[in-house]
Amino acid sequence: MNRTLVKQALEDNLLAERIRIQGWIRTRRDAKSFSFLELNDGSCLKNLQVVVDAGLPDYRRLPEATTGAAVAVEGRLVESQGKGQSREVVADSLEIVGVADQTYPLQKKGHTQEYLRTIAHLRPRTNLFGSVFRVRSRLAQAVHRFFLGRDFVLIHSPIITANDCEGAGELFQVTTRGTPASPAGSDRNFFGQPTYLTVSGQLSAEAFACALSNVYTFGPTFRAENSNTSRHANEFWMIEPEMAFCDLAGNMDLAESFVKYLIQDIRTHCPQELELFQRFVDRELASRLDFVLGNPFKRLSYAEAVAILQRSGKNFQFPVEYGVNLQSEHERYLTEEHFRQPVTVHDYPRDSKPFYMRTNDDGRTVAAMDVLVPGIGELVGGSQREEREDVLRSQFERHGLDSQKYRWYLELRRYGTVPHSGFGLGFERLVMFVTGLANIRDVIPFARTPGSAEF
Ligand code: 4AD
Ligand code: MG
Repeated sequence: MNRTLVKQALEDNLLAERIRIQGWIRTRRDAKSFSFLELNDGSCLKNLQVVVDAGLPDYRRLPEATTGAAVAVEGRLVESQGKGQSREVVADSLEIVGVADQTYPLQKKGHTQEYLRTIAHLRPRTNLFGSVFRVRSRLAQAVHRFFLGRDFVLIHSPIITANDCEGAGELFQVTTRGTPASPAGSDRNFFGQPTYLTVSGQLSAEAFACALSNVYTFGPTFRAENSNTSRHANEFWMIEPEMAFCDLAGNMDLAESFVKYLIQDIRTHCPQELELFQRFVDRELASRLDFVLGNPFKRLSYAEAVAILQRSGKNFQFPVEYGVNLQSEHERYLTEEHFRQPVTVHDYPRDSKPFYMRTNDDGRTVAAMDVLVPGIGELVGGSQREEREDVLRSQFERHGLDSQKYRWYLELRRYGTVPHSGFGLGFERLVMFVTGLANIRDVIPFARTPGSAEF
């Protein structure tokens, strides 16, 4: 008999049919002449209640049907008699697929998120983490639908690269040294030059935008920054659209529509999960998401942002003056206290930004933009790109970069160069924003952070 998922049993037109469901037992309650199993298979938040009559031959297996055990049940799907659930299965067979003994750590509800991180292989079996990862999956697919609907072409940018796109030196080197592929003492670079795990697919995306017009990448990126914060991971996923014939204003417009589209998609398609986050994670989640959907993002220049911060009267740990990088305390003041909404800050001082950003006419700032959101800080970082070969060359000099290594990137400026723009949206930060979870470790299946790669 084919398997029916719990989601299908609860939502599809299957009443009165005989079905087979398979899943893990959340709880068992024994009455005099029958038992109730709460079965969850992760296909949706809800459990399906199974009624096992004491008269069934398989009833003798019931002691093995403990919390955490995997079972397969066949029986008729009926309208539920009891309160609290709409449908239940009246079992006519019960098979124990895999037992779970008394050491199963998810016996009780109410474990802390910190504790659940130590059992990252089991936490998807909880309501909270099952919901987080269903929402993450839905968001990833919404990303593709958004771009498909706008005729963007998906580019698979390389994971192993020779460039440091962001110029921050936070690179993991890729090498065969010390492995059987490279005997001790042999010092040869496998790729003929040092290579690293990519920090960004942007440079590849630029080449393809200057051929296919509107493109995007969506892949893992890696940064060796040793910052153990709730918003940084060493391996995270980034979505990077890149558009030819597009300036900074068009770039900001796309970022805003993109963020709104993704939130709307979850608002429409994951109501049960959102309700759970609202109840157990963040009481203001729904109103915040609705506010974001209903209002234009506030746009202001870096200079205006600095002026607001200086006038705030706040005693920041990092004092604010024109030219400094905005720290997360500053970003949070702007979005959480001053504007209380997403804010797009644009036109940053050139010296604080990577080589590829387009220099503005004032010669001091670049056409950069960051989207900051409440609770997270920076969600999106992007810019218009420097499309003028001579200016780009002088940028390489200013940043102490060897223009020989960027020969192909410079050629994009020699042959049919065009204004073009793009941004990167940190996928985990988006999942945090949509779920209300405060720690990036709780929105990645198995997080990579300094000192931690157990799973
Ligand atoms: O601002 P970033 O460094 O921009 C770039 O990498 C550009 N090349 C993107 C582009 O223009 N194509 O990173 C983009 C976003 C940030 O806004 C943030 O959301 C996320 O990536 N991000 C991180 N997320 C988790 N952990 C980290 N360590 C992150 N570093 C950046
Ligand atoms: Mg940034």
